[in-house]
Amino acid sequence: MSNLYVGLMSGTSMDGVDVALVDFSKIKPTIIDCQTYDYPPELARTLNSLCANSDNEVVTMGHADREVARVFASAVNDILLKNEISASKIAAIGSHGQTIRHHPTGDDGFTLQIGDPNSIAILTGIDVIADFRRKDIALGGQGAPLTPAFHQAVFRHSHHSRVILNIGGIANITYIPSDAKQSVLGFDTGPGNTLMDAWCQKHLNKAYDANGAWAAQGSHDSQLLQQLLKEPFFGLPAPKSTGRELFHLQWLEKHLIDFPNEVSKESVQATLSMLTACSIAQQINQLDGVEEVFVCGGGAKNDFLMECLENELVECDLHTTDMLGISPDSVEAVAFAWLAYAFNQDMPGNLPSVTGASRPAVLGGYFPAG
Ligand SMILES: Nc1ncnc2c1ncn2[C@@H]1O[C@H](COP(=O)(O)OP(=O)(O)O)[C@@H](O)[C@H]1O
Ligand SMILES: [Mg+2]
Repeated sequence: MSNLYVGLMSGTSMDGVDVALVDFSKIKPTIIDCQTYDYPPELARTLNSLCANSDNEVVTMGHADREVARVFASAVNDILLKNEISASKIAAIGSHGQTIRHHPTGDDGFTLQIGDPNSIAILTGIDVIADFRRKDIALGGQGAPLTPAFHQAVFRHSHHSRVILNIGGIANITYIPSDAKQSVLGFDTGPGNTLMDAWCQKHLNKAYDANGAWAAQGSHDSQLLQQLLKEPFFGLPAPKSTGRELFHLQWLEKHLIDFPNEVSKESVQATLSMLTACSIAQQINQLDGVEEVFVCGGGAKNDFLMECLENELVECDLHTTDMLGISPDSVEAVAFAWLAYAFNQDMPGNLPSVTGASRPAVLGGYFPAG
């Protein structure tokens, strides 16, 4: 069987889909190509609306389920065409789908990703492995994060304890101790870019603050930062995961209404950057002997945020995953290609020490193209 896989990842930023074409023939994955395909603006608006209660949700979701699948399939077809690789050479696609709700905790906890895998299989002619999170939830886990098993497989170092830090809409970390007998830990730390994006969209009408240039025009307000850092999620023990259900514009605006001082818009943006950096650093600093932190996800491109992180993470060296041979933009998509590979190898995709599931399990459902 071929060891060529495609990974499809679209996170809480809802900016589009990252597609990675990966060869797992060797111990270290070989990344042949990785591209990002933006969502059409109308679909992005629909997906955003599906993250909150609204009228006629079922019909809207049904349509979006197919539309996301079409965007994903066309991204796969395009990357294969560019690389002159035929669909028959691909063992499977690992598709995360687009999360529209994530309420993992409790007996009635659930998580919901859309992007019909049947349609992706038909439109590409390639078998699809999808629906990775729900088995872990069924086993009492958070269903997230799911990238730590992959991080452990490819990024462990025998002398240095490392953290892989993904800054997407939400930020999550994987702690990989150098001692292989110690458990890998991983959890969501809170907001990554999501609050900064929401504030920027509201006041600049731009999708995001490119390189953190707007934030750099302000200066963070320490009192507001302290108030925001009181959010109980930051102090919760792992396993834990979160989403836009908690960290959204209204969450921020509620704090601002109560806030006694006038803070300029750019200084709010600087404060949000510090909120992401400080909440991440506080939680990394509680881990044992972390020497190196490697950043991936879109947040790695935000110079202002990276500077804030550098200042807060005084005990560790800060790099991007480029240093480990995988570009920050592709790590998550490569991880979902790996999860499809793990499914075909009958290997567990979750780590119970991370998600809290009662046992390791092969994750995903199989959607054949034939
Ligand atoms: N040049 C940039 N400067 C600052 N932020 C950026 C830049 N490029 C991307 N981003 C941020 O990264 C986000 C997308 O990151 P991504 O890792 O794709 O997140 P997700 O997994 O949630 O989709 C954007 O919404 C934006 O906030
Ligand atoms: Mg993205």
